[in-house]
Amino acid sequence: MQVLQKRHLLTISDLTKAEIDDVFEKTRILKARQKQGIPYVPLQGKTLGLIFEKASTRTRVSFEVAMYQLGGNTVFISHRDSQMGRGEPIKDTARVLSRYVDGIVIRTFGHDIIVEFSKYSTVPVINGLTDLHHPCQVLTDVFTIIEKKGKYHGLKVAWIGDGNNMANSWIEAAARLGFDLVLACPDGYWPDKNILSKAKKLALECLNRGEAKLNIEVVKDPKDAAKGADVLNTDVWASMGQEEEAEKRKKAFKGYQINSEILKLAKKDAIVMHCLPAHREEEITDEVMEGRNSVIFDQVENRLHLQKVILEKLLLGG
Ligand code: CP
Ligand code: NVA
Repeated sequence: MQVLQKRHLLTISDLTKAEIDDVFEKTRILKARQKQGIPYVPLQGKTLGLIFEKASTRTRVSFEVAMYQLGGNTVFISHRDSQMGRGEPIKDTARVLSRYVDGIVIRTFGHDIIVEFSKYSTVPVINGLTDLHHPCQVLTDVFTIIEKKGKYHGLKVAWIGDGNNMANSWIEAAARLGFDLVLACPDGYWPDKNILSKAKKLALECLNRGEAKLNIEVVKDPKDAAKGADVLNTDVWASMGQEEEAEKRKKAFKGYQINSEILKLAKKDAIVMHCLPAHREEEITDEVMEGRNSVIFDQVENRLHLQKVILEKLLLGG
């Protein structure tokens, strides 16, 4: 089993292209195995801790079920009910939990929190979403693209809406793996500047090496992003922690919606993605969500299969 170079998975940039491609290939194999009902339990005797400071349905359940299917156990640690909620320092919590569990998934607000935690943790830390990144979701989504399209190379992925944690991880994925990504975001809601400029730099280096031109850009008009796209992708206008801005954001994002008009601009066989939870009739219409181009519930399922591979690679990584 090929383990990962880095002990933690905090961002997509923590992985090399070869490592990501290997994760995709192993996911395909493990998914097929699970469908055939063949048990695979490499993590017997291992325990995964889950620290969640924000709500979750998919991430929590898929990681818990993944561990059970791999023969391991989980401990769910609600931030509020643990000493973390009463101010125990991150550096202490990280070292305490490292003495009990074999790996930790964290969902929190500031990305600096997970970075600090990982500095002190002696067991692998996996990012289950921060304000800045959502790597496990985007890796799963690219795997889903491969399932549907047979590849990611040469495809155009369109992102319509907020330049949020999902958008940032998509930018890192596009730069790392090499596919075109056009994001349509309103002024003031662009993706993280540093992540975007690093990705553009990487794209330029590829071009200078004589590789195919890689287009990673932010535009204003959703139509420009959607035109000729193979994949249409969106997420909520107000992420967790931005609830108070919801009304202001509704105004700013008006028109940044995946609907049948936008879908018509994409390729005929384009797929529509959303990491969920969705706000129907805001960032996406019910019609498109339920329509034949939508692969949204395959994305949901694939979280389970892909995260099993991540867990195996990290928890057995020595
Ligand atoms: N997509 C995703 O991460 O969903 P949850 O918030 O339910 O975990
Ligand atoms: N951008 C969303 C993703 C939820 C999975 C949020 O952070 O709330």
